[in-house]
Amino acid sequence: DRKVGPRRRCILATGGAGYIGSHVAVELLSAGYRVVILDNFENSDRRVLSRISRIAPGGDVALVEGDVRDPATVEDVLRSHDVDAVIHLAGKKAVGESVADPLLYFHDNLLGAVALMQGMRAAKVPHLVFSSSATVYGLPKVLPIDESAPTGVTNPYGRTKLMIEQMIDDVAASWRGFRAISLRYFNPVGAHRSALIGENPRGVPNNLFPYVAQTAAGLRERVRVFGGDYETRDGTGVRDFIHVVDLARGHVRAVDLLLRSSGGWPLSHRRINLGTGRGYTVLEVIDAFAQACGGPIAYEIVDRRPGDVAVSLADPSLAAELLGWRAEHDLQAMCRDHWAFQLQSAPPAPRPVDARAPAA
Ligand code: WQD
Repeated sequence: DRKVGPRRRCILATGGAGYIGSHVAVELLSAGYRVVILDNFENSDRRVLSRISRIAPGGDVALVEGDVRDPATVEDVLRSHDVDAVIHLAGKKAVGESVADPLLYFHDNLLGAVALMQGMRAAKVPHLVFSSSATVYGLPKVLPIDESAPTGVTNPYGRTKLMIEQMIDDVAASWRGFRAISLRYFNPVGAHRSALIGENPRGVPNNLFPYVAQTAAGLRERVRVFGGDYETRDGTGVRDFIHVVDLARGHVRAVDLLLRSSGGWPLSHRRINLGTGRGYTVLEVIDAFAQACGGPIAYEIVDRRPGDVAVSLADPSLAAELLGWRAEHDLQAMCRDHWAFQLQSAPPAPRPVDARAPAA
């Protein structure tokens, strides 16, 4: 008779074909989990599945093209793949877009979370890791920021993250045995060392790293530095950038904890920061990226961006305590890996010829 080893636990990653999701899928496979990706490819690329398999050959990963906003789809995926826990990454995440169209964000992010948890309840899958964001802290009053810091809302996107955390509290109170962890991401950057997966934003990037990478590749004229008069060491904004592979490994530890701990789970919903505890300014990032790509990166200091905070910095000690997790990649690795992915996804455009240069 076929020797049946211990049953591999299975994790559903909604939005698993996206930037964060694909890295989470790779780390889950490396940790021995089966993975099911549910994605509607609205903001991700079908080719990601083959790249995940190239990075983690032999990994048991399945892809379901579908929409998390349909409870029946969720329930069906959970049952047919015998899922043990869900990591919910599907959702819209552009701050500026959320300000312009809040109803789109309430519809997609809030109803997506409601439908997901309805499907989980119907399929009796009681373990959830939710992709939350440091943006729920609003304007931080104390730095570094720990999980007890007051929350605040500075945009509709951040409001949906905070509201979903609160919805999870209510679901936990109503469903005995349900356990959840909301991971509050600081600033995810970088890419897998293989350069097979990474961040491929559509249109003009809102975030700093992809914009710097595209400038380094000659696809953008220069980086606009939003504000040079903050109370920081060089006047530009400070952020807690975290390598996406470190972030992904934090998700695996969170799933391990949910599936490992017995009923003695003190709180049925924990919030945990995923950050490094180390901040870098915008100019320090540009400088580090110039070193990684081996050439100068043009920038111009312009007015502050409305809604930006001066400094965002994590206190990551709860993640170390509860998850036994700590970020390991430094800024150089973040820039090196982000640049390597940029190179393979869009080879450098010819540098704009300086029209003033004398003809050769
Ligand atoms: C970082 C720093 C900017 C672009 C946002 C969301 C957060 C999460 C990550 C989704 C700031 C400066 C940026 C540029 C610049 N998103 N900057 N020129 O605003 O910290 O966080 O993205 O989960 O929820 O709020 O990240 O990369 O946009 O900005 O000077 O072209 O870089 O002012 O100081 P942010 P960011």
